[in-house]
Amino acid sequence: MYTNFRLLGSNPLESAHVPDPLLSKHVSELFADSHIRDQIGKGIIHFSNNPLDTSELLTWEALNTLLSSDLIDHPRLRVIAKKNLYSRGYAGFMGYGVTETGDLIPSIRPKRLLQALNDGCTLVLDRCHSYFHSIETIRRSLSYIFDCRTSANLYASWTEEPGFGLHYDDHDVVALQVSGSKFWTFHAPTLTDPLPGQKSFKYDAPTTPPIKEVMLRPGELVYVPRGYWHDVKTMDAPSLHVSFAIPRLRYHDIAKIMLDTLLNKPEFRQSLPLEEENQMLDVIQTEILKLFSTNDFAAWAKALRCFAIADQPKVNLPKLTLLE
Ligand SMILES: [Fe+2]
Repeated sequence: MYTNFRLLGSNPLESAHVPDPLLSKHVSELFADSHIRDQIGKGIIHFSNNPLDTSELLTWEALNTLLSSDLIDHPRLRVIAKKNLYSRGYAGFMGYGVTETGDLIPSIRPKRLLQALNDGCTLVLDRCHSYFHSIETIRRSLSYIFDCRTSANLYASWTEEPGFGLHYDDHDVVALQVSGSKFWTFHAPTLTDPLPGQKSFKYDAPTTPPIKEVMLRPGELVYVPRGYWHDVKTMDAPSLHVSFAIPRLRYHDIAKIMLDTLLNKPEFRQSLPLEEENQMLDVIQTEILKLFSTNDFAAWAKALRCFAIADQPKVNLPKLTLLE
């Protein structure tokens, strides 16, 4: 029986078996609503009215097929647990065989993996959209909706043991529950709009009561802006959910790419002199002021949005060219 697992682009039967793109269309429709769009970046949104049919999105059978292949390796496949002995670097569930021709082949050690999952670990597959076409179609839709390059991680858990504990993310998140259910508890941001690197473990967790609680059931989504603390607990196991990371563009990103154009000017590539010397600083300051006074900030913003959602260049073998 066909499962929707495949390495994207590698399956010659894909055109006959690509799952219905309706799911990504429904996700797009959810975020097309003007009331919803007004809430983006401002608060948590729980989409529970019309649960999506996720039967075509990701099945346990498809996940099993992937886990028995040699297409994945640690750390892309990993286990996490907040409290037990498994550190985030635990890779004891992976084994490596060598073929007679000398190829190194990664494979799961099933008993060790099951032991870790029994012990409360959450199974995580980073960038799972590369393996599951329907997840990729949703990811692409979200990229267009939010004007940024999104990605998707898969989480599977069998116990109440939290994978992360209370934390916030430095990017927005859309989580889609596929099977089982999870209870999300939210606290208000203590650092608004954290930037990459401003990780939650560097800051004190909030001591104030939760501002919202959500029971996420199959087919339901929750949107979480960056900075909102959250704790997630599996209620109805086993739980399977996909979390889409949405690193929305910031004004700082626009200023940064504008400043990067100064690298084309030789004076900006120079090192500071050993002695304090102000003459060059005056030149630098003049150039920076000129950059921001003569450039169209809106045009740069538009260019950055286009760049963020553009496909990565693809090779076009056997021609030694890029695919147009
Ligand atoms: Fe998170």
